[in-house]
Amino acid sequence: MSQETPVSLLTPAGRQKLIEDEFLAGYMAYFRKAEDTRRWRVHKDIPWEQCNPEVSEDVTTMVEGYFAVESYLPDYTSTMLDMIRKSRGRAWFTANWGYEESKHAMAWETWLTTSGKRTEKQMREYSEFLAEKEWNLPYDTPRRMMVYQMVQERATYLNYHNLAARVEERENDPALATALRIISKDEIAHHGFFYKGIQIYMKYEPQGTLDDILHILKTFGMPARNFLYNWNEFEEVVARAGIYGAREHIRDVQNPILNALGYENRRDLERAALRLRIAPESIGPQTLPPWVKEPADRAANDVVVSVGE
Ligand SMILES: [Fe+2]
Ligand SMILES: [Fe+2]
Repeated sequence: MSQETPVSLLTPAGRQKLIEDEFLAGYMAYFRKAEDTRRWRVHKDIPWEQCNPEVSEDVTTMVEGYFAVESYLPDYTSTMLDMIRKSRGRAWFTANWGYEESKHAMAWETWLTTSGKRTEKQMREYSEFLAEKEWNLPYDTPRRMMVYQMVQERATYLNYHNLAARVEERENDPALATALRIISKDEIAHHGFFYKGIQIYMKYEPQGTLDDILHILKTFGMPARNFLYNWNEFEEVVARAGIYGAREHIRDVQNPILNALGYENRRDLERAALRLRIAPESIGPQTLPPWVKEPADRAANDVVVSVGE
């Protein structure tokens, strides 16, 4: 068994081993790149002295919301590590990811207090309020969680990227703009790791992976809705500003992911998932026939015959 063995000839255990080998290689590449190009320091690389106390309340509400979401780091890491502890690539990624995410919560708290928008006492009280609630895994398998993380990291990137543009345009706060730019790079790198992981799953477990992507796209919700004391206000503020809402999610999160994976939109993916479900067990992605992405106007018989060709 090796990476040259056709996927259709692999046993389930063989597939798992190759998936894990590729996750580990993916993490090593991710880590090297992060060390070389993306490391930054909360206390030195953001010009905190340029915080602007006049920043609008809307932007403050957004940063406070992001602080709340990033504060659940202990729950995110402990539940994930519990689920994927035997996967060396994913477990070590999670440890490193936790380090990167911890700086995000620190940066938002530093901005809120340095700008004078919130006092240290308020932040302490909010942290205590947040600690009372617990975050649980929204999906029940490692593969589904990877799809969820792929989507959620891209959505987070979009939030920070769009807010950075708004702050640069209207708020005159180089500290916040710099933090948003730096942190959005971390988020898109996280997205990239999970996206590559999903490509690996697609290679070895195409049918289940397509089903999972479909399921997560249909049921996805950002974690923020579970924690924020002012979720409705936060949701409204980010949507009104054109930072993140249903439209942005489809256009700038869901569709780019689907396009990168080779699907035009969700319906296109749905057709592919349906057709793979009736394909023989042994079919591997290297043998995916063109009908997988054709419009669904062929009789099922035609489809099954063409699989054998
Ligand atoms: Fe983050
Ligand atoms: Fe992230």
